[in-house]
Amino acid sequence: MRWNGKTGFDDYQTDPDALSILVPYIPQGSVVWECAVGEGGLAAGLTRSGLTVVASDIKAGQDFLTWEPDVSWDCIVTNPPFSLKNEFLSRCYQLGRPFALLLPLSGLESKARQKHFRRYGVQLIIPDRRVEYHPPGNLAAQGASFLGVWFTWGLLLPRDIMFESVTPLGQLTLELTGVGEDPNSGLHRESEGAR
Ligand SMILES: C[S@@+](CC[C@H](N)C(=O)[O-])C[C@H]1O[C@@H](n2cnc3c(N)ncnc32)[C@H](O)[C@@H]1O
Repeated sequence: MRWNGKTGFDDYQTDPDALSILVPYIPQGSVVWECAVGEGGLAAGLTRSGLTVVASDIKAGQDFLTWEPDVSWDCIVTNPPFSLKNEFLSRCYQLGRPFALLLPLSGLESKARQKHFRRYGVQLIIPDRRVEYHPPGNLAAQGASFLGVWFTWGLLLPRDIMFESVTPLGQLTLELTGVGEDPNSGLHRESEGAR
């Protein structure tokens, strides 16, 4: 695995199977904002699960820290860039709508994050196996794996810590349409056999 310092895992793509433990807690009919969509694996998994997805990414000029879609949305789901965990978390709480951010278990560390957790609360969904993360450009390639935990707020989990079993979502097709996307950004793509 290549490591390039502070932003080492920033572009790694999440194995959509990680969604299998989260989706049951997202109300059917919700519009989900995948606000750091990357190559769209999570967005495809959300769509496969029957949810409507609004997709954006800084690579299409949509900085989550300052930008918001002009279409209505109900909750945020993403694996944020590794180096911007605090900023994404702060922004989610600031927006005040339900969210689920996939962070390493060490996301519990740091005074800055704990300040938010104490003030606003947090609920965790913990998988029974590590989450796979793939290098950009090849969702089939081996990358990294570690315990990714869904840090949620506003999804009204029955307990603050849920232990759940990951199940495969199956073969996905990426059909990614962003909001206000730049056609040259690479954000709009279709590819068969993402996984
Ligand atoms: C770890 S990747 C995850 C991609 C996708 N969410 C997934 O889970 O497969 C993080 C993504 O965040 C995007 N990103 C980085 N900074 C951002 C920002 N300020 N606003 C929106 N997207 C950002 C990167 O371009 C990259 O696509």
